Amino acid sequence: MINSKKSPVNFDNLTIGEAYKYGCSWLPSTISEAHLRLLLLDYLNLDNYWDLKRKANELLPTPIIFTHWYERLIANEPPQYISGRASFCGHSFKVDKRVLIPRPETEELVILAIEEIKKNFPNQKLVIADIGTGSGAIAISLAKSFPQATVYATDISLSALELACENSLALNADVTFLSGDFLDPLIERHIKVDVLISNPPYIDSDSTIDPLVWENEPHLALLAKPGIANYEKMLTKVSQIQKKKTIIFFEFGINQKDGLSELINHQLPKAKYTFYRDMQNIDRMLMIDNSDK
Ligand SMILES: C[S@@+](CC[C@H](N)C(=O)[O-])C[C@H]1O[C@@H](n2cnc3c(N)ncnc32)[C@H](O)[C@@H]1O
Repeated sequence: MINSKKSPVNFDNLTIGEAYKYGCSWLPSTISEAHLRLLLLDYLNLDNYWDLKRKANELLPTPIIFTHWYERLIANEPPQYISGRASFCGHSFKVDKRVLIPRPETEELVILAIEEIKKNFPNQKLVIADIGTGSGAIAISLAKSFPQATVYATDISLSALELACENSLALNADVTFLSGDFLDPLIERHIKVDVLISNPPYIDSDSTIDPLVWENEPHLALLAKPGIANYEKMLTKVSQIQKKKTIIFFEFGINQKDGLSELINHQLPKAKYTFYRDMQNIDRMLMIDNSDK
């Protein structure tokens, strides 16, 4: 249905450069060349496009396997699920249909969190919790940046937690994984945190979703009704996991800034909060300083 040209694709006897051009010529309009490049990079186990260019004249290895990967790509599968890997904050994470593919916007949230944690909690043994951890990308990246910290990660999906655990072991990170509804696993264990971070499901269930996302990624990781419902669920219970100074980081969806401001003013009237824009200049990140003064 996707490829109206009905490809009899065959990558035999092509150099890497020729394979890229050939692959581009068969791509349906719904799949971007950037996705093909990413697939080729992962296939060749390369880190960047510079390496790909350098290898342009080498013969594409095992073309029959790449042909299979390519067929999956044009059948609308994200390159990260085909290769089984996603790069996040300089680490390579295993991903599959159990978890959301970690996004560049979320890397920006982690970079912001790392900067602010260093400023707000210098030389301190911290307790950090990542809520709705999915592949474990946020929790594991923070655990690698703050090896002295105690890091918890929660998710309601056991299959996501299973994969997050695998990633944690493979990347040698010290993270404790807990299953349950948002903050409940922390509350049940009387855990208090210095840093709470979350990229919860925030796509309003009434909105139109990119078919590449909708047809492949777990709906449990995407949808909320209404879009900001999950922030409310966390903020109503945050006092139960709060220390004297607790900082909260959220990623949120386009156009949710006003709703979130209203929610914070209502739930945490004394908190200070700041919105941050992503690289596309869109408000997508929020930091709440909920110090108990
Ligand atoms: C948008 S994904 C984020 C995954 C990962 N943190 C990331 O940024 O790539 C949201 C995650 O929240 C989890 N989730 C959904 N409902 C939940 C709930 N009620 N309690 C805890 N986690 C939940 C999903 O399983 C999913 O892994």
